[in-house]
Amino acid sequence: MKEQISSFDEYQKVYQESLNDPSKFWGDYARENFVWKKPWNKVYSADFEKAKFSWFEGAALNITENCLDRHLSERGDQTAIIWEPNEPGEQHKTFTYNELHAEVCRVANALKSIGVKKGDRVCLYLPMVPELAFAVLACARIGAVHSVVFAGFSSKSLSDRINDASCSVVLTSDGGPRGEKVTPLKDIVDQALESCDCVDTVVVLNRANNDCAMTEGRDIWWHDFIDGQSSKCPAEEMDSEDPLFILYTSGSTGKPKGMVHSSGGYMVYTTYSFQQVFQYKPGDIYWCTADIGWITGHSYIVYGPLSAGATTVMFEGTPAYPDMGRFWDVVDKYKVNIFYTAPTAIRALAQCDPAHLTRTTRESLRVLGTVGEPINQEAWDWYNTEIGGGDCPIVDTWWQTETGGILISPLAGVTPIKPTYATLPLPGIQPVLMDENGVEIPDMEAEGRLCMKQPWPSMARTIYGNHQRYINTYFSQFPGFYFTGDGSRRDSDGDYRITGRVDDIVIVSGHNLGTAEIEDAIDEHKAVAEAAVVGYPHEVKGNSICAFLTLEKHSENYPNLFTEVLDLVSETIGPIAKPERMYIVPGLPKTRSGKIMRRILRKLAAGETDNLGDISTLLNPEVVEAIKSEMGL
Ligand code: PRX
Repeated sequence: MKEQISSFDEYQKVYQESLNDPSKFWGDYARENFVWKKPWNKVYSADFEKAKFSWFEGAALNITENCLDRHLSERGDQTAIIWEPNEPGEQHKTFTYNELHAEVCRVANALKSIGVKKGDRVCLYLPMVPELAFAVLACARIGAVHSVVFAGFSSKSLSDRINDASCSVVLTSDGGPRGEKVTPLKDIVDQALESCDCVDTVVVLNRANNDCAMTEGRDIWWHDFIDGQSSKCPAEEMDSEDPLFILYTSGSTGKPKGMVHSSGGYMVYTTYSFQQVFQYKPGDIYWCTADIGWITGHSYIVYGPLSAGATTVMFEGTPAYPDMGRFWDVVDKYKVNIFYTAPTAIRALAQCDPAHLTRTTRESLRVLGTVGEPINQEAWDWYNTEIGGGDCPIVDTWWQTETGGILISPLAGVTPIKPTYATLPLPGIQPVLMDENGVEIPDMEAEGRLCMKQPWPSMARTIYGNHQRYINTYFSQFPGFYFTGDGSRRDSDGDYRITGRVDDIVIVSGHNLGTAEIEDAIDEHKAVAEAAVVGYPHEVKGNSICAFLTLEKHSENYPNLFTEVLDLVSETIGPIAKPERMYIVPGLPKTRSGKIMRRILRKLAAGETDNLGDISTLLNPEVVEAIKSEMGL
């Protein structure tokens, strides 16, 4: 690997070079650090109007040759994956690069044996077991497009995603152990498939010894699936722009968006950003606590670290099981050097009995990371002092499912740290702030909407099956720019501090939730006439969900209305989307054109009764007082 940036002066120099000549910058890095089957004709091309972007056009590669094969001669016996199970008493597992290569090839051959080919979509609905990583890489090996669905999603969410991408195969397990619970994943798949016609095969891993029904002709046990498969499988030649995976993220309106990521650009950028941000050194043990069901797991548990030849930890459990000291036990157990987690976990851990912390040393830690939502000063201070002992740089990494990789973050030990700031863009990344009129704000010290002026290699290329929605969501509000949906402040040093979403997406415990999707789920209840859902600040989760419901005029009396609504949301989206607070109100505040004024509801949910703005222009200003009284405000 090319040398990492090692000083702030060097960062500034490299950053400037990357903007002056992006083709040279990315072309040199890509050429010197990866195995390509065919070189590119052009480093990149970009058309913001049509939202058409390509990187390393004409090049051919297979990302798994870069994550696996190329390491075998030099570090075949080095541990690639350390897997820590949910139960601390269960034996952990490790896989060297040689072993991982063989496991991936076996699954790849098994997929081929059931007819999966390049371009086919495969849904992975699995707990955090090593087989999930094998499956991700096995799909990539044969050019199948993986669509990982987080194993906390409901059967309805799963079937929507399977149908949207027309997946022909689902890989799942009998159960997913997390904390004290075992989620019956196969049962959820069975329910989901009642409304999917596209799936021919379901492969079931025995993870929990759970009884589960097997449908003859469709379902097959994982051990039978891979039985007798060769541990060698040639890597499919992929065009740099061929899709590598689809990953769904909530939208501010309508159904989730299947973000499509490419092969070449994604590989280059996740590797680059992993190396630079975390300053990974050979021999380091790196642990990202995310689930592979989210982009953080894709980019910084699997692809980035493995391409960089790192040792990456995969954890099946939760920070709270068997008690709140689990993370620190695992850090000590494997002598983790680089630890990457989410502010919501940090806040929860900071509140618990210090004895959970003091029973561990955590002395191996060198770099700490955070991702997924803004980190507040208090949580940052605790992370810095109690976990880092005051001498581990904290990399506050800002990015999105859509960006594929980290765009704004300190480089550990290189960029001066400023608490709660994601600080500066990575080389090749050019953030700008826009005012409400769509004009770029020239002043250094400013607050505005965060956009990107330059394309970067790992940007999502489209929304699966709906390019127009991709254009509308990201490229139409500020023509000529990529719009992130986030607001940000920039200080006089040029450091960015992300202030949060400026659209109808709420981040609860680090999970993106579209309020429209939750409203649609609640509206399904017979007694509900209309629902409005907003986020409000929550001490641990960052944000929580508050729902306002109006009832049908002649609706029957539903004594268990709230429970039924919560169940509906759980079944439709998943337990993570359940509102924490609900109010039945006589009306929702609306504009004269009939749009719900969520701005007012957001303020009320946050307990703010002043500065509600001009409510006299509402169609029904009187409801505001009625809502306040219902909420006890
Ligand atoms: O609002 C930003 C917030 O998370 C959003 C992206 O969510 P998702 O696609 O689920 O990806 C999360 C993991 C990359 C962003 O639009 N966000 C992410 N990281 C940060 C953040 N907000 C503040 N600071 C961060 N470091």
